[in-house]
Amino acid sequence: MHEKIIDAIAATGIYVGESILSADTNNGLRAELLKLHTAQNATRALQPAKVSEQAISAPEWRGDSTAWLSDAPSNKAESAAMLAIKALQLAFNAALFTGIQQTQLHYAHYPIGAFYKRHLDRFATSQASRGKTEPASCRVISLVFYLNADWLQNEGGELVLYDADEQRQIRVLPQLGTMVAFRSEQFPHEVLPAIRTRLSLTGWMLAAQS
Ligand code: OGA
Ligand code: MN
Repeated sequence: MHEKIIDAIAATGIYVGESILSADTNNGLRAELLKLHTAQNATRALQPAKVSEQAISAPEWRGDSTAWLSDAPSNKAESAAMLAIKALQLAFNAALFTGIQQTQLHYAHYPIGAFYKRHLDRFATSQASRGKTEPASCRVISLVFYLNADWLQNEGGELVLYDADEQRQIRVLPQLGTMVAFRSEQFPHEVLPAIRTRLSLTGWMLAAQS
């Protein structure tokens, strides 16, 4: 599994395929995200997503709501996901010399019709660090784990990744059990609006800025 992902990242910068997370883990994450969505006073409620650390929410850019995972997992699925992602992080470092130090993860909930316009995941210096006192870090690998059962082709919500030369588009249905990993600095991408709610766990592997 790791080998397949590493080979794809090394060859093309993108992996789209089977998730490193088990079906149980995906279902547990999905249940937790739905719980966060309906919770009235959760300490960890979903918040309208921002387009940078400083920015207020910007619905003209992105219409999703997000909730960061804390370092302390709040259930079995989160702890399994964090372990699996940590193992992938170590495998990337060993094979690709990526120097990843940590992975930040958030749940994302796109209501019907929500989108995220074309963007790059790598921000300018230090914006990837959530804590202002942390040393500057940058996003090396972007990860998305989709949490939607039985997504149909005509329901929209595709992730569209653009090649550096803009010639090729890679389109991904946000299907439960599918994961995407790509080099953050390399691929502009967008999320198309969908006719149903679109759920994911999204993350970024961070390395110290050199
Ligand atoms: C993001 C993003 C892609 C997706 O959150 O930065 O691009 O498919 N997500 O949800
Ligand atoms: Mn993105």
